[in-house]
Amino acid sequence: MARWGLIPAAGIGKRMGSAIPKQYLKLHDREVLAWTLEAIQRSGELSAVVLVLNPDDQYFAGHLAREFPEVICVSGGNERLNSVARGLDKIAELGKDEDWVLVHDAVRPCVRKEDISKLIAELAGHETGGILASPVRDTLKHSDANGQVRETLPREQYWLAATPQMFRLHKLRAAIRALEEKNAIATDEAAAIEQMGWPVQLVAGRSDNIKITAPEDLPLAEFLLREQARSRAQD
Ligand code: C5P
Repeated sequence: MARWGLIPAAGIGKRMGSAIPKQYLKLHDREVLAWTLEAIQRSGELSAVVLVLNPDDQYFAGHLAREFPEVICVSGGNERLNSVARGLDKIAELGKDEDWVLVHDAVRPCVRKEDISKLIAELAGHETGGILASPVRDTLKHSDANGQVRETLPREQYWLAATPQMFRLHKLRAAIRALEEKNAIATDEAAAIEQMGWPVQLVAGRSDNIKITAPEDLPLAEFLLREQARSRAQD
């Protein structure tokens, strides 16, 4: 069974408030996307990687395309879900129904090789797939429309969904197609699988697999990447 990487990188990063899409901002003089692609490649677990770019992308062609020549590029859609769907169309042309697809955010450059390997090992033989996630550590409050606390939730049962999210190709494609047909939105692949009533396994991953969303995430990611490089150098 092949394992495909699928990296949606077609977003324009509205919440970051920067002119450049956040996957192209720099961490230690290198684009976020370059760190992410390198982390995925370093895992050594994937047969090929499909990268979904915005149809108007002006940043990947050039030095990044030269640095990652083996990446297969396709054009994305309006929402993340549509971008993932276009990537899956490409993988379906090249792969088989039961193959695994690991969808990983372009803006999670700090994912560790160990977590990718753990996800793959724990899902071996699973009929559908699952996701890296980390248990919620803080106390969780549910608010009302006025910003007042309505209740405190039992955090033991809450997880923060991360990526990679790993599912069988034919199941993920069917689940996402069902949402596209209804013009519905899902913010991750697991939500698409869940609405089909299929099981999604949670695999506990590191909490420092952060998603770059706001400007304050950039120095944190730089710190984490420097620590990773330091520990690799010591091995
Ligand atoms: O905006 P958000 O942080 O949810 O984006 C998560 C990932 O999905 C990013 O890697 C982004 O580039 C990607 N995305 C996409 N196509 C879109 C919107 C987001 O590939 N239309």
